Amino acid sequence: MQIDPWSSSIIDYDRLVSEFGIERMGRLDEILSQNHLFRRGIVFGHRDFYAWWNDFRDGKKVSILTGMMPSGPFHLGHKMVVDQLVFYQNLGVPVTLAIADVEARTVRRKTPEEIRENTINYLTNYFALGLDPDKTDIYMQSSRSVAYYRLANMLAGKVTFAEMEAIYGTLSPGKITSALIQAADILHKQLSDYDGKHRVLVPVGPDQDPHIRLARDLAERIGFVTPSPNYHLFMAGLDGQKMSSSRPTSYVSLDEPVEEALRKIKNALTGGRNTLEEQKKLGGQPGKCMIFSLYVYHFENSDESLDERRRACENGTLMCGECKKELLGRVEEWLLDVKAKKIKYRPIAEKLVDKMMDYPF
Ligand code: TRP
Repeated sequence: MQIDPWSSSIIDYDRLVSEFGIERMGRLDEILSQNHLFRRGIVFGHRDFYAWWNDFRDGKKVSILTGMMPSGPFHLGHKMVVDQLVFYQNLGVPVTLAIADVEARTVRRKTPEEIRENTINYLTNYFALGLDPDKTDIYMQSSRSVAYYRLANMLAGKVTFAEMEAIYGTLSPGKITSALIQAADILHKQLSDYDGKHRVLVPVGPDQDPHIRLARDLAERIGFVTPSPNYHLFMAGLDGQKMSSSRPTSYVSLDEPVEEALRKIKNALTGGRNTLEEQKKLGGQPGKCMIFSLYVYHFENSDESLDERRRACENGTLMCGECKKELLGRVEEWLLDVKAKKIKYRPIAEKLVDKMMDYPF
C-alpha cells in the first residue's frame, strides 16, 4: 500500500497502524481528556506524541505546527485541526501555521487570485473558530525567509530519488518541490534562526503521512529532533460517502448560506428505519448515522448526553425527526455566531495575506 497525499483515496486506518507503524493513542491524562477529539478517539493515532506531550508537561520548549492548502471551500472536515490548534494555543503552546501556496500553485495549479481568495477565507475561518491572529505565527510558503529556503534546498541533498519514489510513487517537479518545502515547514522552527531544537507536534490527516515520514527521516539526517505527528479520522460525508470538496452535498461549509447548510443536513443519511413503527421496534443505528456523527465530531461536548442520545436512538425512543431538529437548532446558532465573527476577522485576514503574498508572475 502507498498513500498518495495528492489524490483522494480512502484511508484504511488498520493498515496505517499495521503497515506504516502509526501508533494508536494511549493513555489520556486529565488535560488531554478535556478534549473531545482525544476522548472519542477522533485523534486516533500518532508517532512519538507522548515524547512531545511529556516535554510539554515538563515545561520544556515545545511547539505545534501545521499547514493548510488554500483550495476549495472550508468545511467541517477542516475544523478538527483548527480545534486542536486552539486547544494547544489555550494551553500556551506556540502555534505556527503554514499556508501551502507553493503546493497549491505547483501541484494543484491554482491561480494567484484563487490562492489569495482561498487563503483569506481559510484564515478568516480559522480566526472565527478561535485561533488568535496575534498569537499565531502565520506564513505563506512562497515568502517565509532565506533560512527556510536554504533548509528546503539543502534537504534535497539528503534524500535520493529512489527513496522519494518509494514514498510517493510517480513524482513531478511540483511534487518534489512541494514535498521538500513541506519538510522545511515541519523542520524549520528548529533552525537557530527560529527557536532552535525542540519537539514539534504536527496535527494532520493521515493522508499527510508520506510527508511526515519524509520529514522525520530528514530530521534525523540533519541532527534535528524527530517531529511528532498526530492523526485524526476523516469525517464521513453527509451522504455517508467520502466527504469531498468536489461534492457539495457531502459537506457543511462555513462559507455557504446558513439555510443551505441546514438544508443539506436535513437531507443527510441517517441510521433511521423505513417506518416509524419499525424504528420504535428495532431502534435506530447511530453508527451509520451522519446526524449522530455530527454530534460526535462537533456538536455535543458532553459524553453523557452523547451516550444518552445513542441509547435513546438504539432503544427506539428517540426518533430521527426530533434528533435532527435538535441538531439543526445547534448548527444554526453556531453558524450564525461563526458568520458574525467572520465579518469581524475578514479584514485582519486580508491585511495579513496582502503582506505575505507577492508573486513575480
Ligand atoms: N500538504 C498539506 C495539505 O495538503 C498542507 C501542508 C503544508 C502541511 N505544509 C504543511 C501540513 C506542514 C502539515 C505540516 O493540506
